Amino acid sequence: MAVIPGDNVGPEVVAQGLRVLKRLEDLGFCAFDTQSFSWGAGEYLRTGRAAPDPDEIVAVLREFDAIYFGAHGDPSRVPDWVASQQLMHPLRQGLDLYVNLRPIKLFHGVESPLKAPGDIDFVVVRENTEGEYSPIGGRAHPGLPHEVAVQTAVVTRQGAERVIRFAFELARARDQKRRVHCVTKSNAMVHIMSLWDEVFETIARQFPDIETSKSHVDATSMYLVSRPSTFDVIVATNLMGDILSDEAAAVTGSIGLAVGGNLNPERRYPSLFEPIHGSAPDIAGRGIANPLAAIGALALLLDWVGETLAASMVSGAIADVLARREVRTRDLGGDASTADMTDAIIEAITAGPALDGSLTLGGLLPKVATPAATFAADVGAQGLAAYPPATKDGSER
Ligand code: NAI
Ligand code: MG
Repeated sequence: MAVIPGDNVGPEVVAQGLRVLKRLEDLGFCAFDTQSFSWGAGEYLRTGRAAPDPDEIVAVLREFDAIYFGAHGDPSRVPDWVASQQLMHPLRQGLDLYVNLRPIKLFHGVESPLKAPGDIDFVVVRENTEGEYSPIGGRAHPGLPHEVAVQTAVVTRQGAERVIRFAFELARARDQKRRVHCVTKSNAMVHIMSLWDEVFETIARQFPDIETSKSHVDATSMYLVSRPSTFDVIVATNLMGDILSDEAAAVTGSIGLAVGGNLNPERRYPSLFEPIHGSAPDIAGRGIANPLAAIGALALLLDWVGETLAASMVSGAIADVLARREVRTRDLGGDASTADMTDAIIEAITAGPALDGSLTLGGLLPKVATPAATFAADVGAQGLAAYPPATKDGSER
């Protein structure tokens, strides 16, 4: 396992995840060799770069089975784009981590800010390599009144196809509401989002057993508050998925609980697991960050590498500790420290928690088919005609 703790609360919460891993290893559930990398804003201050060149990052990390990531960023000392551009985006693009999977769940014992939240349990599938976060663009005439900044958002047919297909496969594998919701903005971002919508419609026709719905991103952000329990799988482009998943985390109690997997479903490269929060410099160094998002990310990682029982132990412990309401960090309205919360998780693991599949997706991750591999195989066998793009009126072309 490669470990990249990052900056500020990143190393604080990753250290807690590693304490949990150590306990699992001591109990004989799993065994890992770990190697740590000091990349991030701190590395930039020390060396002038947040991480090695993108090619080297990929060459070093592809030898690992999985990557455990904290969070990068130290915006008061290092321009905030540096670690994103030198570390996070090279990781996501270089390792082709095109699915950013963000399970959203309202745990028993956690209060939602909503009056009547209902049973919230859905997954945001965020496209993670292109969209609005494409690095294409630039600035000209710096400092002059006519200075210009341009950034080009990119949706490719293949990029949309593979992530949308993953969302449908996931809805089928979860076997809950069997519903995929498409987030769009094709009324305004007419080029990229109309391609996105067309691909969604094309893939949807291949999953007649899965219900679909669609709304513009502004309306979706409203529905996440007004009726969050109706969602099952939400699929969105990079920026939209990023924003909606932070909102969803707040609706389910705290961003300190929200877990993310950056997946290469074909397993050509190691996948990366992290809390969805950033480096939280406002609370860093005080020992008060909630470690559960990082510990939950470890559960997803364990599930991904096939340590399904260990994964269930961790997610079961998280569910137990939250339901008991005894130990709560400040973001959950208590005064427990980061270490107190981890102690409670380790105790629950040691006592043997009720096994809970909620953060492991119940062992579903390894079962979800490999969309791009399927795509390549289908295209190879039948030619691109197997994927007739929809026309504007929905008829086949
Ligand atoms: P943030 O997620 O770090 O913080 C937003 C709010 O959530 C803050 O009030 C923070 O205190 C709170 N929060 C975050 N994690 C928490 C935890 N574990 N327990 C309790 N409260 C928690 O987002 P922000 O402030 O926009 O970004 C801070 C830095 O992190 C920036 O440098 C940004 O670029 C970077 N960042 C890095 C990410 C990554 O490494 N994947 C993702 C998002 C932001
Ligand atoms: Mg984010």
